Amino acid sequence: MAAQEMRGYLARVPGSAQAPIDDAELTGVINWILHEFNSETLPPNFVDLTVEEVARARRVILADPNKYRETYWRGY
Ligand code: HEM
Repeated sequence: MAAQEMRGYLARVPGSAQAPIDDAELTGVINWILHEFNSETLPPNFVDLTVEEVARARRVILADPNKYRETYWRGY
């Protein structure tokens, strides 16, 4: 989550983007996942995803998540 591009990524993977839940619900699920399972690796200045950025991001579904990860998350 230190890479800015990865915030949108979490809403753009097909399972997220196409989940039959609204933008606010998806935002809640993603923020819950981050705090529940990733709290130790979140950057100290991490700010929860907003409904607005999730709504914007999920409209641009990633056709190739692995390529996107390689591009923006090379160190992973
Ligand atoms: C609200 C529903 C969902 C959310 C929030 C969600 C979220 C995510 C996220 C954030 C990733 C990327 C993980 C990473 O790059 O480390 C991911 C990967 C994936 N999701 Fe989901 N997902 C949802 C539903 C689904 C559903 C319904 C399916 C299949 C029926 C699915 C199948 C997958 C698969 C196959 C991957 C790829 C795993 C990999 O990296 O190899 N997801 N999901």
